[in-house]
Amino acid sequence: RGVQNAIGRNIKLNLNDGKNVRRMSSLKVTETEKGKKFVPFTDMVSSRRAEARRSIVVQVQSSQSFKELHAYCSSVGTVKQMLHYTVGVEPMNFIVVEFASEKDVTSILDKSSYVEDSQIIPVHSQFLWFRASNRKLPKLKQSKTAILNAENGNNNLTAAEIVDLLKKCDSVSDQMKQLYDFTKLNDLGTRLRFLTACQVEDAVRGMFPSAKAFPFGSSVNGFGKMECDLDLVLRLSDEKVKSDARLMFHCKALVGSERSASQRNMEAMGDLLQLFLPGCSHVRRILQARVPIIKYHQQLTDVECDLSMSNMSGVHMSDFLYIMGSIDDRVRPLIFTIRKWACEIGLTNSSPGRWITNFSLTLLVLAFLQKPPHSPPILPSLNNLVKLADSTDHYMTEDGINCTFLRNINKLKKPAGNKESLESLLKEFFEFYSHFDFTSKAVCLNEPVAITKPEHCAMYIVNPLERGLNVSKNVGLEELDRFKVEARNAAWLLESQEHKTENWGLLSIFENKRKSNNLFNFAFPNKQARLMEVSTLFENEAAPVEFKNESVKK
Ligand code: GTP
Ligand code: MG
Repeated sequence: RGVQNAIGRNIKLNLNDGKNVRRMSSLKVTETEKGKKFVPFTDMVSSRRAEARRSIVVQVQSSQSFKELHAYCSSVGTVKQMLHYTVGVEPMNFIVVEFASEKDVTSILDKSSYVEDSQIIPVHSQFLWFRASNRKLPKLKQSKTAILNAENGNNNLTAAEIVDLLKKCDSVSDQMKQLYDFTKLNDLGTRLRFLTACQVEDAVRGMFPSAKAFPFGSSVNGFGKMECDLDLVLRLSDEKVKSDARLMFHCKALVGSERSASQRNMEAMGDLLQLFLPGCSHVRRILQARVPIIKYHQQLTDVECDLSMSNMSGVHMSDFLYIMGSIDDRVRPLIFTIRKWACEIGLTNSSPGRWITNFSLTLLVLAFLQKPPHSPPILPSLNNLVKLADSTDHYMTEDGINCTFLRNINKLKKPAGNKESLESLLKEFFEFYSHFDFTSKAVCLNEPVAITKPEHCAMYIVNPLERGLNVSKNVGLEELDRFKVEARNAAWLLESQEHKTENWGLLSIFENKRKSNNLFNFAFPNKQARLMEVSTLFENEAAPVEFKNESVKK
């Protein structure tokens, strides 16, 4: 919640002399059947990376500083747009300045300096602050035409404002759409996440010039909300091996096992972040998890980060989820609603444990949309996307995970004909999983039907890209039972409302909290007991990536 409120409302300062700013002009876009534009995941990521590379983040006195900052930046390069945001309760003000080219950023950084102080680490980065000046600055050429626009539609509303908004809606479907529109990660949030990734890349660029930090998870998969964390995987080299090269780089060999070497490298990354990088605070090293990670808070962008250096499967998974969310307009509002419901009633929890994760919930919704009772189904199975893949879609991670599937959904013959409303899909989701035979069936997105459970555990969701793994292995029987009971309650609440009461529709299912908390306390009589439960999971080799949170101490 702290993070949610920390980034204040943002305004876009459009300084393009009234000309339309085409924010995503560099994207290759193609028209889908419904006239909506689908941008393939890799194009979207490349465009966002390029946008971040031609941007800087400047801390300023107040939003009023924008004219002076614009005048200064324009004297060095061409400013494309400026976006203002605040962080914290006693707000610190920042402006993201996007230039026309990366060269402008190089020029502006060349002209930037450090305060004279032997106590600081003189690090070069895209994070700067704007010093007051007594000297006369060049005149702002277009100051008369500078426009202050409210950021498109999504202003990071407070929880109370969202409740008010939902109360005023006409239908549950409308509530679901509004919830999605007003809580999804917006343009500024995405820019700040890509800028945060750039900072990590730059930190290692001297030694690893082709290093790339790839955002994955909800920051890029289309299911992220405003305050979502940033999952990052840092790859030290993004270069293809040159088989005809004559001069070869001398390199050190890894010391010890691959795992211990990777833990050691992550530790070094943690030190780098902690000691040298501005804004990186509260650095925690979670090195015993299956995938070692560094957690930290980037204060200047107000983004919580999970940095790993493992393989790219998380990025390919994000591509798959992004595609699924793009195939049909109803997918994202439905997933947002179900994730919000689970969070409100305490089914999901930010600390790791035996409860269902957002990732598992997302897969449950997607699997539900692939299968009967929908006829025709709303989403294709992954096997279907694999069959349609062409040579450009072939990806294999270095440890042999096959991530091949169709990337451009314009080539997909869209399953047509299903016109169900969001409200009816929501009710069906709750009905479907309150009756699902979790005892003998596994949820599987590869096939169009549920499959027989390959091994004993409460809930089995086949990892779509690594079919031998269970994504929900962590879920305990008591948590599965709660999920089913809560799903049944939600279905009942939605079905039984004939008239609008004060908290109707989604608000009624989000409100179920008190009752759920009692159940929750019953499952885990005290906090200590809960933490003990969780700590045992750290030893589980097959534990999902989720089990990396330091809030659970060993
Ligand atoms: P948020 O709750 O908004 O952060 O959603 P998220 O989808 O980003 O979840 P999270 O940060 O926990 O995980 C980030 C990404 O890591 C997910 O989107 C998945 O791609 C991957 N991931 C998370 N949990 C698992 C898991 O159990 N198995 C596998 N294979 N990947 C996982
Ligand atoms: Mg995440």
